[in-house]
Amino acid sequence: MNQMLAAYIERFGGDEVVRVEPRPIPEVGPSQVLIAVHAAAVNPRDWLLRDGRYVFRSFVVGFPKVLGSDVAGVVAAVGPRVSRFRPGDEVVAMQTTLGQMGGFAEYMAVHERAVAHEPRSADHAHCAGLGVAGLTALQALRDDVGLRGHERVAILGASGGVGHYAVQVGKYLGAQVIGVCSGANHAWVRELGADEVIDYRTQDVVGALAASGGVDVVFDAIGKSSLERVRGCLRAGGRYVSTVPTGENARDQLRSTPTQLLGMPGGLVSRMVLCRSRGADLAVLASMVDAGGLRTVIDSVYPLAQTRDALARSRTQRARGKIILAVRS
Ligand SMILES: NC(=O)c1ccc[n+]([C@@H]2O[C@H](COP(=O)([O-])OP(=O)(O)OC[C@H]3O[C@@H](n4cnc5c(N)ncnc54)[C@H](OP(=O)(O)O)[C@@H]3O)[C@@H](O)[C@H]2O)c1
Repeated sequence: MNQMLAAYIERFGGDEVVRVEPRPIPEVGPSQVLIAVHAAAVNPRDWLLRDGRYVFRSFVVGFPKVLGSDVAGVVAAVGPRVSRFRPGDEVVAMQTTLGQMGGFAEYMAVHERAVAHEPRSADHAHCAGLGVAGLTALQALRDDVGLRGHERVAILGASGGVGHYAVQVGKYLGAQVIGVCSGANHAWVRELGADEVIDYRTQDVVGALAASGGVDVVFDAIGKSSLERVRGCLRAGGRYVSTVPTGENARDQLRSTPTQLLGMPGGLVSRMVLCRSRGADLAVLASMVDAGGLRTVIDSVYPLAQTRDALARSRTQRARGKIILAVRS
């Protein structure tokens, strides 16, 4: 009775190390919510962790490790200090950095500060992706580069998990949005709200952006660029923000910190977003969903038993929107 099905690893490695077998149901801490998981979202961090390459793997200490950070489902139990949730509530959550992941399972325990009520207008599968990818898009644009309503923003990787939310968050913040992705994805990225689209496979992205008047912000959602490489399309006072902590980006961020702190006119700024698991921000995303300003595009849905296939799909870096694990039918 105290067992659940979970996808976990007992060592780092390839496909073969992922097992979907019974594990103990996690105990609920005093400030935690135990969620009966209906859907979980796959993120690149899941296969990076499996491979032993996740940058924060030392926080997720010890084996076995249940993979997965993002879930949507129903509250099964709450700890004595939990005040905002009760059993039966439909919720969405992103596990905290110190929370040992644990989303690819029938139950996940998570601190209540990382939980929000689900939007009323979306099902569990469409809510699950809001965690890592949705929060990264919101926090990068709103907090890390302070995107403003009159500005122009280019989203590199606009068809991915983070990118497709970023297109919509950019519109929500009132900006003009240019989506950069391969041509096959242009139509639906425009449907999400992108004002313009650029095919990075056939066009010189920086040249095209510069020719159309430049941009105030480049959000490199796929993390394959740098401030130096996009400098030619940034307007005076422009900001670059990336999801991937490369050495080049760390150096650029260090160099541009005085520019940002001192508010030097015209200076360019480089930032790296680090997604924070805040329930308050999940609630912002949920309200955007209910207001019709945000939706999840689902690339594919896999049963929990096929976690290996879901990770393999994510690893291609060709997903259109979010890959979802259906944990309960
Ligand atoms: N720092 C953080 O807190 C944080 C948070 C979340 C994610 N991340 C990182 O951010 C990256 C993106 O995450 P994600 O979940 O959005 O990944 P994802 O969903 O796997 O991204 C897939 C998308 O990437 C696009 N893509 C692949 N190569 C590209 C290229 N060279 N130029 C432009 N687009 C390209 C593909 O579009 P096309 O098929 O159209 O090319 C596809 O739609 C990952 O490295 C992830 O680890 C970091």
